[in-house]
Amino acid sequence: MRQHFKFLTLIFIISLYSCSDNSKSKDFTVNDINIIPKPAELTLNKGSFIIDENTKIIAHDSLKNIANILTDKLKSSSNIELDFSERSESNFIEFVVKEDLENEAYELSVTDKKVIVTANSLGGFLYGVQSILQLLPAEIYGTDTNGDLILPTIEIKDKPRFRHRGLMLDLSRHFFPKEYILKTIDRLAMHKMNVLHLHLVDDQGWRMEIKKYSKLTEVSAWRVDQEEKPWSARDKNDPKEKGTYGGFLTQKELKEIVAYAAQNNIDVIPEIEMPAHVTSVMAAYPELTCHGNPVAVPSGSVWPITDIYCAGKEASFEFLENVLLEVMEVFPSKYIHIGGDEATKTNWEKCPDCQRRMKTEGLKDVHELQSYFVKRMEKFINSKGKKLIGWDEILEGGLAPEATVMSWRGFKGGEEAAKQGHDVIMSPGGYCYFDHYQGPQNEEPIAQGGFLPLSKVYQFNPIVEGMSEKEAKHILGGQANLWAEHIPTTSHSEYMIFPRLAALSETLWSPIKLRDWNDFSKRIKTQFLRYEVLAINYAKSAYIVTSNMEIDLDKKSINLTLQNEFPKSDIRYVLGDVKLGEKAIPYVNPIEISESTVVKASLFENDKPIGKAFIDTIKFHNGVAKVVDYEIPYNDRYKGSGSSTLVNTLRGTKNFHDGQWQAWLNENMEVVINLDEPTSVSKVTVGALESQGPSIYFPTKIEVFVSDDGENFNSVGNLVRPYANNAGSELKDFIIKFGKQETKFIKVIATNLKKAPSGGGVFLFIDEILVE
Ligand code: ACM
Ligand code: ZN
Repeated sequence: MRQHFKFLTLIFIISLYSCSDNSKSKDFTVNDINIIPKPAELTLNKGSFIIDENTKIIAHDSLKNIANILTDKLKSSSNIELDFSERSESNFIEFVVKEDLENEAYELSVTDKKVIVTANSLGGFLYGVQSILQLLPAEIYGTDTNGDLILPTIEIKDKPRFRHRGLMLDLSRHFFPKEYILKTIDRLAMHKMNVLHLHLVDDQGWRMEIKKYSKLTEVSAWRVDQEEKPWSARDKNDPKEKGTYGGFLTQKELKEIVAYAAQNNIDVIPEIEMPAHVTSVMAAYPELTCHGNPVAVPSGSVWPITDIYCAGKEASFEFLENVLLEVMEVFPSKYIHIGGDEATKTNWEKCPDCQRRMKTEGLKDVHELQSYFVKRMEKFINSKGKKLIGWDEILEGGLAPEATVMSWRGFKGGEEAAKQGHDVIMSPGGYCYFDHYQGPQNEEPIAQGGFLPLSKVYQFNPIVEGMSEKEAKHILGGQANLWAEHIPTTSHSEYMIFPRLAALSETLWSPIKLRDWNDFSKRIKTQFLRYEVLAINYAKSAYIVTSNMEIDLDKKSINLTLQNEFPKSDIRYVLGDVKLGEKAIPYVNPIEISESTVVKASLFENDKPIGKAFIDTIKFHNGVAKVVDYEIPYNDRYKGSGSSTLVNTLRGTKNFHDGQWQAWLNENMEVVINLDEPTSVSKVTVGALESQGPSIYFPTKIEVFVSDDGENFNSVGNLVRPYANNAGSELKDFIIKFGKQETKFIKVIATNLKKAPSGGGVFLFIDEILVE
């Protein structure tokens, strides 16, 4: 008891002492400064400012709310409560308005005596606070910062390069609740992003309560639950069947989201798709289609999209105007996004109402009819004091006079719109589509396709080379789009957003002359620590080591290159059945491999492997480099590397465009491998891929035959595998073992499923036939 008391007293004395302790002061180096996005101007000086219980906050009137963002963080993470004060000689953090600062700009001055945040806008002050937080230990984002709160002595003058810095969340393909959207707002603010674009409508679900049209939330918000099937292989629904999977946000919830976003300097832009991507609407109001027939809310992909609003019927416009009136009531944003993408207008070509409209309006084709549609909606939107945004398809048939274009099919649409004097937001798929893979497909959850690693996002530049100054002025900025077909959960959504949002934020905020991948690669490591404290399920894909293999078939030797996204990475590897630990060999030059082995590699940090290990098995089997005869030719689109593909040791990945796969569409694979001389064989392995979304199915049967003369074959083994539903993407080795045979020829037949359960054709994908 007595001892315990002594111990407590000691703690008390230590903590009293530390209150006024200046010995903690330290000098920082540039390596300690890890702000993302990188500030426009930054000078690091010697010395530091220590935040302690005696630090005062000086902030007047409305600035108190902003100051509270900082004090709340300090309280929740470190249990330090800072008091407001009118003035102080030293040890204070002051918020000061400076009228000549631009919107969202801020200055942060830290000396050993005081911290001054200067700005002239809510955004500016918020971003000043965000930078302060990022100068403190990552634990500041959590609930127990044990360390000291020491800021480097620093001068920052910062402002954004672009005024539109956005993220789009698709709430239709999978619905995400209010709580997740509020969390996302915090995270956008942390990255100094200022736009949240909500994709509230698509074929697979309507997500906003509209009081005048209750069927939008009774019918359009729900689909038949087929979540266990791949998105693109889901069955067509019966319009009479009631949907149970989905959800929507009430107007009250949306207002709460909007208000919270506004406090964080984030504009929420609603997107109400038209004329296409609205099959869900037509399930509730089929009278708005050209044909009027019953339609079901689809549970998966729809292509082409033909059940669109009839452009001839006045009812379509009346409906949309009424919807938009409620939308504008909830969303104060200056912008209303009307979609406008991917409308297949075949119904318009046949519909008497649409044809009449074209005649009376003097429109020469359906593109002009879509342009009429959009222009008419723009007039309505403008009459309410708002501006229209549309995807770049709204250029077709003539752009509406005041429209802002969101360029997604590359930069082209944006360039053209800027030439025509329109504002543009760049979100080209190749740099901004966060539904694409960010690492090797074998290691990633199923995604839409494409490949957008962190380093590629970091190369994004919304201003295209050759743009005039006038055109460049029309580029408002850029945004990432997270389409959610393959994203059923919030944690998966986080995985796709982070860390790519960090790279994007820098491309939109920081001066381009500061763009430096090496420097970002260093700072992102600290951002990872912040994500960990915030319990964000960020992707560690950038840590994965990837390989490139080339085989010399004459020499039977593989040249293996290992690489990683981060520069100067410490990649180490082992060959064979060895643990990837202390014995791992630093990778310097390509590795030559000429016998069967297992390669394991990883990025190392502080002599320890980090991230997922790269593992590949290389097998120089008896068939390698032998002649393969194809009884049925492989598909023209998937040739692999030609006739050696199946016997080159190189294995395909889940990216079936990787050049290692051969495919047969609705046909079997039937090949004969000529082993040149009688060879002892007792096992054949056939490597296959299944990805039912893009109609790739495992074989249903594999048969192996042997022959001495290449004419008369004897069956030696087979394997039967009936079709099974598979929501993922899977690589599988089918192994057929049999009694030892001396043979010169091996024939392998893999049977194609031929008809997919949903009715379409079937691909059979094979990468290697291993003969052992
Ligand atoms: C889009 O990706 N269809 C805008
Ligand atoms: Zn029509």
